[in-house]
Amino acid sequence: MEEVEKLLNKGVSRRSFLKKTGVGLGVTAGALIFGTGIAGAQTQQSGVIAESPLPYVELDPEEARLRAHAAYFRAGCSYAVFFAIVSMLRDKVGGAYNQIPLRMLGYGRGGAAEWGTLCGTLNGAGAAINLVAPDADVNKMLADVIGWYTITPFPSKVSDDIAVANGYKYDAKAPISIVLPQSTSNSPLCHASVAEWIKASGFPASAPERKERCGRLCGDVAAKTVSVLNAWKAGTFTPAFQISEETANCLSCHGDQQVGKMSCTSCHDAH
Ligand code: HEC
Ligand code: HEC
Repeated sequence: MEEVEKLLNKGVSRRSFLKKTGVGLGVTAGALIFGTGIAGAQTQQSGVIAESPLPYVELDPEEARLRAHAAYFRAGCSYAVFFAIVSMLRDKVGGAYNQIPLRMLGYGRGGAAEWGTLCGTLNGAGAAINLVAPDADVNKMLADVIGWYTITPFPSKVSDDIAVANGYKYDAKAPISIVLPQSTSNSPLCHASVAEWIKASGFPASAPERKERCGRLCGDVAAKTVSVLNAWKAGTFTPAFQISEETANCLSCHGDQQVGKMSCTSCHDAH
């Protein structure tokens, strides 16, 4: 817990965290010390923040993964992903990012106030993307992250390996040092995502292992979101996700009787 506090609170060098954990060495240390930023951008803004997208600079996806995983244990999944990205933009860009409360996405935990709707990681990712990109690009990027989420087994091996290698606990109750079973949600809903993992792993929702799974998932989604944003910034982003043939088939007849592109058969029977 103490390590989490160090990681989450500004003013403590990232270096000691990285050294202690052995994570991310050689990747991040120089560029991402807390408190650095584009020259002059750290000053307080006065007046109303502009409605236009804020400046984005390339971020380190692996740094985002670490921050999101740790932040999950402070205020939940949605907060964690938003915190990871916006806190890094505070460090590198400053300016208006200093005016945005990092707690803003806290409500998204457990699929919005524990209702199991949109997975909080995606809610947090969407809010961060929306801060930096114009509407049309937001839709493309977030749709791609959501699609990727529905077909990817979580937690990823990368996040497992980091947690196992770490050797310290992010949370007093979290069994940090074990490889966790994976599951694929086939849905962007918290409800389906968590239920699939419970089914695959045998751990109940209240288990520390389930929380740790969601913590690692935060890391996975934060890292993915930063990768997508970096590609977009570099002008090389092209959406990769495509809906399944099955869903496309359902939509060819029912496109106008419903909204969305979730896997239809996760709720309806095919006919
Ligand atoms: C070739 C066209 C076609 C395809 C493909 C198709 N449906 Fe249908 N579906 C219909 C028709 C026609 C009905 C009955 C009339 C209606 O309610 O629109 C229907 C009814 C339904 C209903 C219930 C509506 C009711 O009134 O009970 C659901 C739900 C549904 N389809 C879902 C799906 C899903 C999910 C898929 C893909 C796995 C799918 N459909 C594929 C044509 C299609
Ligand atoms: C998260 C669950 C869920 C998913 C995923 C989902 N639906 Fe539905 N759908 C519902 C519910 C709930 C209703 C409203 C109650 C009902 O009619 O079953 C509904 C209603 C419908 C209806 C209207 C049925 C009627 O009686 O007129 C159609 C058609 C339909 N869905 C098609 C689809 C298609 C096509 C997809 C995939 C693109 C899809 N649904 C995905 C839950 C879902």
